[in-house]
Amino acid sequence: MTIKVLVAYATKNWSTAEIARTITEVLRNEGLEPEMRLVSEVGDVQAYDAVVLGSPLYAGRWHKDARRFVRRSAQPLAKRPVWLFSSGPLDASAGERDIPPVPAVRRALIRLDAKGHITFGGCLREGAKGRVARMILKSGKGGDYRDFGQIAAWAQRIGATLLGQVAVGPGER
Ligand SMILES: Cc1cc2nc3c(=O)[nH]c(=O)nc-3n(C[C@H](O)[C@H](O)[C@H](O)COP(=O)(O)O)c2cc1C
Repeated sequence: MTIKVLVAYATKNWSTAEIARTITEVLRNEGLEPEMRLVSEVGDVQAYDAVVLGSPLYAGRWHKDARRFVRRSAQPLAKRPVWLFSSGPLDASAGERDIPPVPAVRRALIRLDAKGHITFGGCLREGAKGRVARMILKSGKGGDYRDFGQIAAWAQRIGATLLGQVAVGPGER
């Protein structure tokens, strides 16, 4: 039996897309059937057995497309195993400790009965959109703080969990 996993992500400057791609590749290597989609382009969540949903943090909040998706799809999401991730910190903190979800994401975790959440380091590179982004870059505080080993390990745990669930039967989810 194949397990279809939606890997949905929001982004402004595409670094979260690269995180989603790594998660997708790992899940595929684990034997699952992942589909990576921009969250604004997701059709029917019912087509998937499980969902990984991620968004960058901007000014302490998830991207609006991810927030909208949670509102719009709360019902089918709550019926599936869901994992959430945030990407953001432009320093080494995400590799050093667990960074808790921002308040609205914490509420989403409860509402969706999500299996887990992780905050990955963020990335801000030359060419990023927005005046504040340019200011951050000018002050020398940009950079790439994503740890693809950490991202892959998290995705591997999701894959193992989903495969374990199938072993006990999808009806017992
Ligand atoms: C204007 C602006 C505001 C940001 N606010 C936050 C924030 O509140 N918390 C955080 O951890 N990271 C923050 N970041 C860092 C971004 O989340 C990080 O650059 C992220 O990797 C961007 O993802 P994207 O390339 O997919 O859009 C901010 C970046 C910018 C440019």
